[in-house]
Amino acid sequence: MITPPANELTSGLGRVVYSEAQIRARVLDLGREISRDYAGRNPLVVGVLKGVMFFMSDLLRAIDIPVRVDFMAISRYVAATGGKGAVRLTKDLEESMADQHVLFVEDVIDTGLTLSYLLRNLRARGPASLEVCTLFDKPQHRLANIPLRYRGFDLPDRFVVGYGLDHKEAYRHLPYVAELTPAALGLSNRD
Ligand code: IMP
Ligand code: MG
Repeated sequence: MITPPANELTSGLGRVVYSEAQIRARVLDLGREISRDYAGRNPLVVGVLKGVMFFMSDLLRAIDIPVRVDFMAISRYVAATGGKGAVRLTKDLEESMADQHVLFVEDVIDTGLTLSYLLRNLRARGPASLEVCTLFDKPQHRLANIPLRYRGFDLPDRFVVGYGLDHKEAYRHLPYVAELTPAALGLSNRD
């Protein structure tokens, strides 16, 4: 078990689940696989801010074919509306998806409800193809059936932070992924 060095940033962290080196190696693999599969198709790579930012930038630099890049941003409806997985687009894509080969990149898929909602929205825009690449997968909590074309790692059934994943906006810029101690987790804010 690796414990991160103690300092102000790492307070509240438990075990490191995936190290910087492990993440780098896996992201390079994914980039190679995507480059091979999408050769000649000039795909549109789409990410949802903000969690995906480090994965997206490392993955893109591991892809050696021409691609285009776009982002969307969402905010989740919480208990008030009760609409499970319903999200509001706070920033839409700038590129048209019509007849494009779209690769949707996610940081982590947990219940899959957010993504399932987004995929319905995106499919309606008439892409030539639409595939999903997630760095982290938490299959234990899945409530929606998500077709995953590329998957980096499975995650334990724990709340983790780092490499883009936050807890109340903290810890996103850790270069590795670590568990939070139960004390630091408190009442889990899942976004
Ligand atoms: P779901 O798949 O709709 O349940 O939601 C996935 C979203 O929940 C992700 O995009 C993250 O914002 C957040 N999330 C899920 N698990 C974790 C975690 O372990 N750490 C940080 N955020 C998480
Ligand atoms: Mg989040």
